[in-house]
Amino acid sequence: MPASAPPTQPGSAWKSSPALMVEEGVSLRTLNTLGLPAVAAHLVRVDSEAAVRRVVDHPQWGRAPKMVLGGGSNLVFTRDPSALVVKVEVPGLRVVHEDAHAVIVEAGAGVDWHELVQWTLAQGLPGLENMALIPGTVGAAPVQNIGAYGVELKDRFHSLVAVDLITGRTVELDAQACAFAYRDSVFKQTGFGGLAGKSVITRVRLRLPKPWQPVVGYLDLQRRIEDTGVTDPSAEQIFDWVCAIRRAKLPDPAVLGNVGSFFKNPVVSAEQCRDIIARDPGIVHYPLDDGTVKLAAGWLIDACGWKGRSVGRAGVYDKQALVLVNRGGATGAEVLTLARAIQTSVYERFGIRLEPEPQVI
Ligand code: EPU
Repeated sequence: MPASAPPTQPGSAWKSSPALMVEEGVSLRTLNTLGLPAVAAHLVRVDSEAAVRRVVDHPQWGRAPKMVLGGGSNLVFTRDPSALVVKVEVPGLRVVHEDAHAVIVEAGAGVDWHELVQWTLAQGLPGLENMALIPGTVGAAPVQNIGAYGVELKDRFHSLVAVDLITGRTVELDAQACAFAYRDSVFKQTGFGGLAGKSVITRVRLRLPKPWQPVVGYLDLQRRIEDTGVTDPSAEQIFDWVCAIRRAKLPDPAVLGNVGSFFKNPVVSAEQCRDIIARDPGIVHYPLDDGTVKLAAGWLIDACGWKGRSVGRAGVYDKQALVLVNRGGATGAEVLTLARAIQTSVYERFGIRLEPEPQVI
C-alpha cells in the first residue's frame, strides 16, 4: 500500500522537507462515482493547507503536473492519469460567524457535500436543503457551481480558501473572484486568469441568510406542495422532498455508477427556440432573464429515443435521460462513445450541440 516516493536526488532538500507519503499504483475505481477503471501511478492525500504546501515544496513532486481529486463525482476516466493525483481530504465543519443577517459556516473540502447539508440542518441552520443529496465533496462544489431545485452554490457562497499549486500560498477568494456561472467557475477555466489545475480548494464558507426563506418555485416541489397540502414547508420538509425526488429519478452512485447530469442544459436564442417549438411543441424550456432560453437536455435526449438504451456496458438511465450510467464494468471509452452518439443524434435532430458537464481525463 502506501509507499514513500524516493526522491530523485537524495540530499539536503529531501531531508529538510517533511516526509511525503506518496502511494503508488492506486486503483481509482472506487474513487470515481462512475466506477471507471483507472490507476494513479502516484497519489498523495492532503488534509490541510500545510499538507498541500508540503507537496508544492517537495523537491521531486513540487513541479510535477498534478490532478486534484475530490469525490470523483464529476470525472470520466478514459485513461490512467499521468499526473500526481492530489486527493483532497480536508475535514471539518464549524460555524465561523453569526450576525443578524446570516450565519457563515465553514466546511473542509474533503467533507461529503450531503453530510454538510445534514449537519447544517441538525444545527438548526437552514439554507442548503434544496441541494441535498448532490454527490461529491464540499471542495468540488464551487468548481462547477453545483445546484438543484432552484438553488445554486453561488446563492449561498461566502468565500473559499485555496492553495496555489505553484507558489504554495494560501489565498481567499470571494464570489466575484470565483466567476460563478451555470455549472461553471474560474476553477474550470483554462485560459488567461483561469484556475483549472492551478490550485487546490481546501475550505469553503457558506452564507446562510437570515431569516430563512423557503425556495419552492421548482415544478417538482410545487407538485409536492399540491399533493401534500403542506403550503408552508419547513427546511426539513424541503430536505425530505428533495431527497425523495432525487431518489426517484437519479441513480445512487453506490448502486449504479453515474456522475449526475452528463450534459449541461443548453441555452439557445429565443428565435432558435421558436423554430424548435414549431417542430416539437412539447419541448421543455425555461425563458431566462436575458431573453435567451434554457432547454431541458434530458428532454432532447429522451426525444431522440435514448432513454434506457446502452452502448456496450454504458447506458442511459431509464428514469432520466440526462444521466449516463455504468451498467457494470464499463470503460471510460464506452461512456464517451455513448455520449458522442447522443450528441450526434441531438445535433442531427435539433441542431443543438450538447456540452458535457463532467471533466474528461
Ligand atoms: N425530461 C424528460 N426526459 C428525461 C429527463 C427529463 O422529458 O429523460 C424533462 C423533465 O420532464 C423535466 C425537464 O426535462 O420537465 C427537466 O428535468 P429535471 O427536472 O429532471 O431537471 P434537469 O434539467 O434534467 C437539472 C440539473 C440537475 C438538478 C435538476 C433539479 C443540469 C444539467 N442538471 O436537471 O443537476 O438536480 O435540474 O434542479 O442543470 C447535475 O448537475 O448533476 C444534476 C443532477
